[in-house]
Amino acid sequence: MAAIPHHRVSVIGGGGNVGAATAFALIAKGVPAEVLVVDVADEAAQGQALDISDASFMMPGTCRKGSFQEAGQSDVIIITAGARQQPNEPRSNLIDRNYKIIKSIMDSLQPIKPTAKILMVSNPVDVLTHIAQKTSGLPRRQVIGSGTYLDTGRLRNALSQITGVSPTSIHAYMLGEHGDNQFTGWSAARIGGRPLLEHPKMKDIDLDQIYTNIQRKAYEIINAKGSTYFGIGICAATLAEALLNNTSQVFPVVNYVESFGCYMSWPAAIGSDGVEQSFDVKLNDPETKKLQVAINAIKEICDKYN
Ligand code: NAI
Ligand code: LAC
Repeated sequence: MAAIPHHRVSVIGGGGNVGAATAFALIAKGVPAEVLVVDVADEAAQGQALDISDASFMMPGTCRKGSFQEAGQSDVIIITAGARQQPNEPRSNLIDRNYKIIKSIMDSLQPIKPTAKILMVSNPVDVLTHIAQKTSGLPRRQVIGSGTYLDTGRLRNALSQITGVSPTSIHAYMLGEHGDNQFTGWSAARIGGRPLLEHPKMKDIDLDQIYTNIQRKAYEIINAKGSTYFGIGICAATLAEALLNNTSQVFPVVNYVESFGCYMSWPAAIGSDGVEQSFDVKLNDPETKKLQVAINAIKEICDKYN
């Protein structure tokens, strides 16, 4: 008898690139979940679900097309629906279109299971996480966004090439917002218990160039192939796994940071209740100034789209 999935994870927008990559990553990672692909493009949802289900015959998870009503009763609801950037277009440009889409999705999901966790991926993800929480009625700790987890992965890959240390052992973060106001917390970065910047291989490195490469990576990929989806797919699936398995791992996700008074891409421990604890990252003065720029930018848009 086939393994019975223990959880339900729904991907709203699963007919598209990011949603399908996320649904596939959930199956490929062996997450024991019933994965529902939900999309207004019904045929695209069916096609993606059927294709991904072909990848599930060796895995504990299952995949099928689902409805908004079924998705509302999920343990984790991942939202990848909406417009994406055109070449050289900033993520913030998407807010008008995607604000309307997210609001309509939240209405379509009701009633939402009281213990459901929402994982926002659509851009601009920091602001749309705020909107999803306001319109879902779920507690703040149960509504997060993928945030700068993808950017942090890009940073750690780059630092791994320089230092020769595995990305999983490099505790360095991109912070603030998953957008043009993101910044690198260089002074807080550690390898093996030592400041990253004291690593001998970091001595003559141009930190500004590393930052620019990371901040521009998405634009580079979009210019080359039209959109990004494999990196975010694995990130979203990993966050869903942390929520389902109560791992209490720390990720730079979009979460409500009390001291900032807004949703922000910031390190938090993630478990079955959602955000378990947020962390007060010690930054130097220039980094603190960049943080304030990001806070102001996010608050300005959230106030407009409240
Ligand atoms: P896409 O165009 O391939 O897919 C979007 C999907 O959303 C389509 O299948 C469409 O039918 C669906 N959709 C539109 N309105 C809907 C609604 N009301 N309900 C349900 N489904 C709806 O776009 P792609 O490339 O998958 O990007 C999706 C979003 O993910 C964009 O906002 C993009 O900026 C964002 N993204 C975020 C990343 C992150 O790190 N947070 C990384 C990559 C993309
Ligand atoms: C990224 C954009 C698309 O890949 O949000 O970072």
